[in-house]
Amino acid sequence: MNNPSMHRNVQLNSAGRLRHFLSTEGLSRSMLNEILDRAEAFLLPDQRIRHEPLLSGCTVMNLFFEASTRTRTTFEVAAKRLSADVVNIDISKSSTSKGESLRDMLWNLEAMTADIFVVRHSQSGAAHFIAEQVTPQVAVINAGDGQHAHPTQAMLDMLTIRRHAAEPFESLTVAIIGDIRHSRVARSNIHALRTLGVAAIHLIGPATLIPEELEELGVKIFHCIEDGLRGVDVIICLRIQNERMESVLIPSPEEFFSLYGLNERRLALARSGAIVMHPGPINRGVEIESAVADGPQSLILRQVNYGIAVRMAVLSMAYQGQREVQHG
Ligand code: NCD
Repeated sequence: MNNPSMHRNVQLNSAGRLRHFLSTEGLSRSMLNEILDRAEAFLLPDQRIRHEPLLSGCTVMNLFFEASTRTRTTFEVAAKRLSADVVNIDISKSSTSKGESLRDMLWNLEAMTADIFVVRHSQSGAAHFIAEQVTPQVAVINAGDGQHAHPTQAMLDMLTIRRHAAEPFESLTVAIIGDIRHSRVARSNIHALRTLGVAAIHLIGPATLIPEELEELGVKIFHCIEDGLRGVDVIICLRIQNERMESVLIPSPEEFFSLYGLNERRLALARSGAIVMHPGPINRGVEIESAVADGPQSLILRQVNYGIAVRMAVLSMAYQGQREVQHG
């Protein structure tokens, strides 16, 4: 399961269309723009989302091996907006906990006429592994695998930036602050931002939380938040992922906040009107101060809303791509 990037072309069918959605890495700019355009077409005024029965007769199974509220719920809402039948499998009560192998469980779910598996798993590479096991009739969407990728979160972040940042992608400097080391969101965002051609990406945090090899991806690393935030157009805060830390990598939440927390004074160093994002769940007073999280530059709840449209886009594109495999 450990070398997910080896298998990146598994995502496309023989005509180059999306068939699984596992990672933003390896997808072209035009594919990312197609996802964003399609998502945008589902948006209605006042944060309402269009209903379009593109998945009528299709069964979407949510396989969440790891806890989630917003991602699982927005996938469910998205699938229902497309008129799919949605089944949420409670993994803690499923027979994998009785020793059944993952492969056997998948075959059984396929026999129950699953068309799409939405998968969240604590192991990096799990969604690729599942995509390789399933029959050609089934599409797999990665809803977050270990520290590797969270591509639908990245695409909803891209939609937020495209709709709300002051400039087009090519002119933007984007700062990502906090626990980059453990963040699948950061990795998927870096790949998407690079592919969409942003001017610069600043990674901000303590050395313990930013792997130096990320510099190979064309980012700049800053250990001083003030230096990293100066003049940026977009700020993405990340949660401190205590559950993924094997040793103590930050001194204390209070000290992290004093060194790297986003407060109004620091926000003022960014370009005026810079947008503030966070994938949630947020820890107030650890990575972000409430005045900023709830302030006029924050788009945190807007991101959740766009998550429905982006998930509708990806579900409908993968379903189409998977049917082309069967009929082509
Ligand atoms: C993120 C995740 O699960 O990776 N959350 C999310 O999907 N909304 C980020 C996090 O847990 O901090």
